[in-house]
Amino acid sequence: MTEEGSGMNDGDTKCVVTSAAMLELKSVHKRFGGLHAVNDISFRVEPGCIKAVIGPNGAGKTTLFNLIAGNLPVSTGTIHFQGQEIQEKKPYQIAHLGLARTFQNIKLFHGMTALECVMVGRHVQSRAGFFSGMFALPSTWKEERAIRNRSMELLELMQIADCANLEATSLAFGQQRAVEMARALAAEPKLLLLDEPAAGLNIYETAEVARLICRIRDMGITVLLVEHDMSLVMDISDEIVVLSFGKKLAEDSPTNIQKNAEVIKIYLGEDDAITA
Ligand SMILES: Nc1ncnc2c1ncn2[C@@H]1O[C@H](COP(=O)(O)OP(=O)(O)O)[C@@H](O)[C@H]1O
Ligand SMILES: [Mg+2]
Repeated sequence: MTEEGSGMNDGDTKCVVTSAAMLELKSVHKRFGGLHAVNDISFRVEPGCIKAVIGPNGAGKTTLFNLIAGNLPVSTGTIHFQGQEIQEKKPYQIAHLGLARTFQNIKLFHGMTALECVMVGRHVQSRAGFFSGMFALPSTWKEERAIRNRSMELLELMQIADCANLEATSLAFGQQRAVEMARALAAEPKLLLLDEPAAGLNIYETAEVARLICRIRDMGITVLLVEHDMSLVMDISDEIVVLSFGKKLAEDSPTNIQKNAEVIKIYLGEDDAITA
């Protein structure tokens, strides 16, 4: 990126196109029976960027995330993550390569504290094996302590450290999103996929989530998000991809997307401008 700092975008921050994309989709298709849910989608996500995928309901956004994370097989096309082809890999293999995600519907475990939820997310990185765990070897205690410390750090980064010992599902939605993000970060990803991080949040919580996403980007983690909240998308994204009925309609900076007549027409179904 050409600009530094933890703030929102104040203009057209552009990602520098490097030879090695963090993520690159080439002609990706996904069919469900006769339905072309994802239809010939190609785009790159540059390292260090916040890129958003927008589009009306049913445009194929969640399906696209499921293809990238390996939760659904592609029909045709290729997906490269840090230069490696991943479209044939399983979700856990892709996670190991450094990709983490959150889901459209919050998926926290009942009966677990916020801290425990984040610690679970750390297991991808954990080295302790089953037997050392069973016999509680000193190496396991050490690793457990390290996991706990890092998880606390991440809760602090997401500004919910004071909720660490509260049951995660009893927290306000905004705090639950922050726990989810901390849990995803616990795997120390290079790329984080966020599916509608502001869904169900009020404007204050949404503004907080926007700050947290910028903070994640400032940690050096690339972010790809799907989001309906246009003010969030326009404030924090470096680039936006617009999908409509599975097809890519546009890919541009937030400023240009807001001026794109075709986007305005399909996205709003009327001739009003998309306002941030
Ligand atoms: N597992 C599935 N099986 C069949 N059809 C699906 C499946 N998932 C999504 N679809 C269809 O694919 C299209 C895109 O859905 P989705 O990716 O959820 O859109 P978005 O997230 O943009 O709202 C929709 O028409 C939806 O009904
Ligand atoms: Mg969706």
